[in-house]
Amino acid sequence: MPMQRRTFLRTTLTLGGLSLVSQDLFALKYYPQPSNKKIAIIYSTWCGSSRDAAVWISEGMGGIADVFDVREEPTIEYFDHIIIGGSIRYGQVSKELCSFLENHKEELRKKVRGYFIVCGNMRKPVGTEEKVKYIDKHLATFCGVENLPSRVFNGRVTKRLLDNETRALIERFEDYDDLRRSLCLDYGAELLKAMF
Ligand SMILES: Cc1cc2nc3c(=O)[nH]c(=O)nc-3n(C[C@H](O)[C@H](O)[C@H](O)COP(=O)(O)O)c2cc1C
Repeated sequence: MPMQRRTFLRTTLTLGGLSLVSQDLFALKYYPQPSNKKIAIIYSTWCGSSRDAAVWISEGMGGIADVFDVREEPTIEYFDHIIIGGSIRYGQVSKELCSFLENHKEELRKKVRGYFIVCGNMRKPVGTEEKVKYIDKHLATFCGVENLPSRVFNGRVTKRLLDNETRALIERFEDYDDLRRSLCLDYGAELLKAMF
């Protein structure tokens, strides 16, 4: 049953509380296909690019991975395999993702199986340079696990989703959408192959 894992997690997260729903309402949930594999994709996003990448990576695995915004604080204990990803602002992933990774470093070290990054890269195609900068020298350092299957994806900007201050900063730039679902699906398939 696709609901079971979420139900388990919600129950775990609210132990000690009477309300199962009111404290833990999240607008987006992704219910995976039934599977005996316990895989989580944990992402951080401001405007949704990394959320979509995470969902598409799961789809590339046949839809069997649970997908969580890091702000949900998923229970790592429940999963055997974890993929970590996030979007870049000013050269870094969000502070929420950094804190989560630092706080769970030891548990993650044994379970992390891959990394992904979504960035604008001034609309230039991403390559080795961005992989080194954002994955090897940034994301991978939090967990201390290197050389895992990883990807950097070109992202997108949707100005109407930005807060006023940030929108004013990039006023002269146009919206763009360089995130490609097919690349995320391919990465999901590659991860699955590497894991099992
Ligand atoms: C304020 C701001 C700062 C950004 N800084 C960077 C950056 O340093 N390097 C980069 O490659 N892209 C940068 N980007 C582009 C984002 O990484 C890209 O738009 C990404 O798709 C956003 O992901 P999200 O939709 O998950 O928030 C920035 C975008 C914004 C709005």
